[in-house]
Amino acid sequence: MTMMPALLTTAVLLTLLSWTLTENSELLPIDIVVKNSLQNKVPLTYTTQVAYRGILLGAMKRLMDSDAGFKFTYSENLNYGPYLESVNGVAGNNEDHTYWELLAKNSNGEFERTDVGIGCYIPSPYQQIILNFTKW
Ligand SMILES: *[C@@H]1O[C@H](CO)[C@@H](O)[C@H](O)[C@H]1NC(C)=O
Repeated sequence: MTMMPALLTTAVLLTLLSWTLTENSELLPIDIVVKNSLQNKVPLTYTTQVAYRGILLGAMKRLMDSDAGFKFTYSENLNYGPYLESVNGVAGNNEDHTYWELLAKNSNGEFERTDVGIGCYIPSPYQQIILNFTKW
C-alpha cells in the first residue's frame, strides 16, 4: 500500500521523460550562412531548426534532409569529434590551407569562432551561424 504512490510516481516520471525527449522536443529556428569569399561565391542563408539544447550537427542534418539544397560532409575525429570537411561540394584542403571555419553570432552581434565543433556546439534559438571558407 505504501509502495504504490512511489511506484506510480516513478512510472509517471519515466513516461514524462521519454515523452519530453522524443515527441515533445520543441524545434527552434536558426540561420546558417554559407560564406565563401575565397571563391567569390555569393553568401547563402538557410533557415533550419534545432532542438531545445540540441547540437548544431542535428540542425545541419535536418537542413540537408530538407529540399533546401544544402549539403555537407564531415569526418569523425577520435579526440575532437565530428570535423566539417565540405559544404555544398567545396572541401577544405591542406595544400591550399583552406578549411570551413565555424562562427556564431554572440550577444554583442559579432561573429566569433566557436570553441567547440559542429558536434558539440549548441545554438541558441534564432542564432546566426556562419560556415566560412577561409585559410589558416
Ligand atoms: C571569412 O573568411 C574570409 C576569407 O578568409 C575572411 O576575410 C573573413 O574575415 C572571414 N569572416 C567573416 C565573418 O566573414
